Amino acid sequence: MKTVGLVGWRGMVGSVLMQRMQEENDFALIEPVFFSTSNTGGAAPSFAKNETTLKDATSIDDLRKCDIIITCQGGDYTNDVFPKLRAAGWDGYWIDAASSLRMKDDALIVLDPVNLDVIRNGLKKGVKNFIGGNCTVSLMLMALGGLFRENLIEWTTAMTYQAASGAGAQNMRELLKQMGTVHDAVADKLANPSSAILDIDRGVIDTMRGDAMPIDHFGVPLAGSLIPWIDKDLGNGMSKEEWKGGAEANKILGKPAMGEPGCVPVDGLCVRIGAMRCHSQALTIKLTKDVSLDEIEAIVASGNDWVKVVPNTRDASIRDLTPTAVTGSLHVPVGRFRKLAMGGEYLSAFTVGDQLLWGAAEPLRRMLRILLD
Ligand code: HSE
Repeated sequence: MKTVGLVGWRGMVGSVLMQRMQEENDFALIEPVFFSTSNTGGAAPSFAKNETTLKDATSIDDLRKCDIIITCQGGDYTNDVFPKLRAAGWDGYWIDAASSLRMKDDALIVLDPVNLDVIRNGLKKGVKNFIGGNCTVSLMLMALGGLFRENLIEWTTAMTYQAASGAGAQNMRELLKQMGTVHDAVADKLANPSSAILDIDRGVIDTMRGDAMPIDHFGVPLAGSLIPWIDKDLGNGMSKEEWKGGAEANKILGKPAMGEPGCVPVDGLCVRIGAMRCHSQALTIKLTKDVSLDEIEAIVASGNDWVKVVPNTRDASIRDLTPTAVTGSLHVPVGRFRKLAMGGEYLSAFTVGDQLLWGAAEPLRRMLRILLD
């Protein structure tokens, strides 16, 4: 049985990963060793097996005993520990949720319902580093995998509506505190049916612009507003999140890098909205040929076991194509398929996915399963 080191299992993505691994009985197939950056010697979680104490997540000697390491500890940890571990001669498999190693030549981005062929090919060639993709990219590819497989996408834009969870657990808490602060500021007036809505509105915006609004993590109000920039400013008008769209999508698909012949251009604007943990994306797709909507829907539905085509009606869209409907589910609904006024090769679509499941934890545990096969 393979010894699998688990690092960062207590954080938000790590907790979702642990939950999914328990649900899928993954622990029956491995000998888990739980690592910690702060509580070495403490008790491992209740689902531990033989090794019931926590090991030091910075101990190269302890880490190198593992055949496989899965980390959700974050990029700083990866940057610190991974090079030391490889330098010490460790030859095991490294599965990582952080972005640090994603674009390295000796790493693959894992999303097996879309790129199992790329993964299997990499394994044959001796690749040992398998990294989870950016959440919006993974969710977009889960939704459109069928169209990519059939080479029907010449290019696509992804205009995103990203949830607070993508920024971290503290940001989710701050979003809720902001909602509460705004509500509290006008609760009295709101309770009075005859109060003027413009008075309430003035109270809301004064609060949002005032000092009472908790903004330590987002820097600005998100509740009642939005933030049209995610991740670093690359200095060329593009956010790092937007850059990841094209760079990672092409790497996942095993295509040439963005800008090179044979790539599929993917670009767009990334926006944070006040959803908790589901990312949504509005897509404009330039098809390589004019294919009927019926065919498109059939191809999309055939993409993988989790994608779900939502009929392009008002009722179905507002019921099934929202963060409220999708949170906690592995299904990736995609709908609003419509040919745009620009012509038969221009397709719109809208998709929603749980950022913590297919966007983070699920591809990692599935990569583990591939290694155990
Ligand atoms: N970078 C993403 C976001 C989450 O901020 O929503 C991680 O992929």
